[in-house]
Parts: sequence; C-alpha cells; structure tokens
Amino acid sequence: MAANSLPVPDGLERDGVALRRLRARDAHAFAAAFRQDPQLGVNIGADEDPTETAVRRFIARQPGLRARGEFLGLAVTDETKRPFLGHVMLHTLSWRHKRGEIGYWLIPEARGRHLAKPAVSLLVDWAFETLDLDRLEITTTPDNAPARALAQALGFREEGVMIARNLERGRRIDVVLLARVRDRCHNLPGLAP
Ligand SMILES: CC(C)(COP(=O)(O)OP(=O)(O)OC[C@H]1O[C@@H](n2cnc3c(N)ncnc32)[C@H](O)[C@@H]1OP(=O)(O)O)[C@@H](O)C(=O)NCCC(=O)NCCS
Repeated sequence: MAANSLPVPDGLERDGVALRRLRARDAHAFAAAFRQDPQLGVNIGADEDPTETAVRRFIARQPGLRARGEFLGLAVTDETKRPFLGHVMLHTLSWRHKRGEIGYWLIPEARGRHLAKPAVSLLVDWAFETLDLDRLEITTTPDNAPARALAQALGFREEGVMIARNLERGRRIDVVLLARVRDRCHNLPGLAP
C-alpha cells in the first residue's frame, strides 16, 4: 500500500444510517437511480449516466483507487448493511495540502428522510479525524438547493461562486465552492477568521 492509501472505514454508523464498502450487488440500484432521476447525472457532473455494467467496473476499480489514495466511495445503507441507498465520496485529494472534496447523492426513494446529513457527517468526521485532513470542500451548482442546504447544515461555509468553471454535457456551468476547515487551522496566521 502507498503511504497515503485510503482505508475502508470500519463501523461508521449513526442514527440508523451506516456507511460500508461498495459491493458488486449494489450496481443494479446504483444504475437504476440515474434512470429514475434523469437530473442525478447532471447534478453530480457525470459525463453520461452510467449503465449497470459501467457501475460494476467502477466498483471493481475501488481497491486500486483507494490504494493510490485517490478516491474513496462508500455505500449509504441502514443498520442491516444491506440496501444501497446512496453514495458518498471522498475525492480530489491533495495529501500535500491535507485537503479533499466530499460528494454525495441518494437514490430517489431515500431522499427527504433525513438520511443524508448523518451519512455525509460520518464521512466528514472520519476524514478529519482518521485521515488528519485540514480542509474539506464541497462543490455544487448554484441551483442545487438541497445540496447547498445539506453542506451548510454540516458546517460548510460558502466561499463563492466560480463563474463558468466547468464544461458539463456541452454547457458551461457556474460552481459554488463550500469548505469546512478543521478547528485547529482557524488560528493560523494568514487565514480568514
Ligand atoms: C443532496 C441530497 C443528498 C440531499 O438529500 P435529502 O434527503 O434531501 O437530505 P435530508 O432530508 O437529509 O436533508 C438535508 C437538509 O437539507 C434541507 N433541504 C433539503 N432539501 C432542501 C431544499 N430544496 N431547500 C432547502 N433545504 C433543503 C433539509 O431540510 C435538511 O436540513 P435539516 O436536517 O436541518 O432539516 C439529495 O437531494 C440528492 O441525492 N440529490 C441529487 C444528487 C445531488 O444533487 N447531489 C449533490 C451533488 S453536488
């Protein structure tokens, strides 16, 4: 394993919500979410909606991505650890700068049930505590009210809108940057309060 490999967190569970590694059998529900909600792929910035086969390949690539310290994807589930209810991710890591980016989505049936906040906070707390990161970022589009509300509810502060930042599905889009900085960094000289 590389020095900055990403482990699979163990025992992450809170308020009936748990995170676990992605399993091949999640591929069906994972891909179905993109068919049920045609906006999902657009919201997460995917080039195209994934097929079940593409999801299977993606799940098979997880150990390598973790070993290289590049990407950690976890299934959101309940206390039984069985259903696939959504996906939380840690990506775009810079180990040198001790920062990374958090992503999240739930399958349509799991939304509006107050699952997202505990699910994402489990990953955020683990990333700060176990990986010793100092800064976590979330990016979304200005019109994504649920994603912005969730990030703010988790203590992320909006730092601004990056104009025409991405080219997604042939459209230039603005991107909102939110960040949460570890408590110990707030006292460092040169950082905004
Ligand atoms: C973003 C997402 C995970 C949120 O899931 P959710 O089930 O709505 O989340 P929750 O029910 O746990 O709500 C989280 C908070 O956001 C608030 N919220 C949800 N929808 C909102 C809306 N449209 N406007 C304002 N606040 C909203 C909730 O009130 C809640 O706050 P509270 O716990 O203080 O009441 C879900 O909407 C989703 O999967 N969206 C599609 C994928 C996506 O856009 N991902 C983000 C890409 S950057």
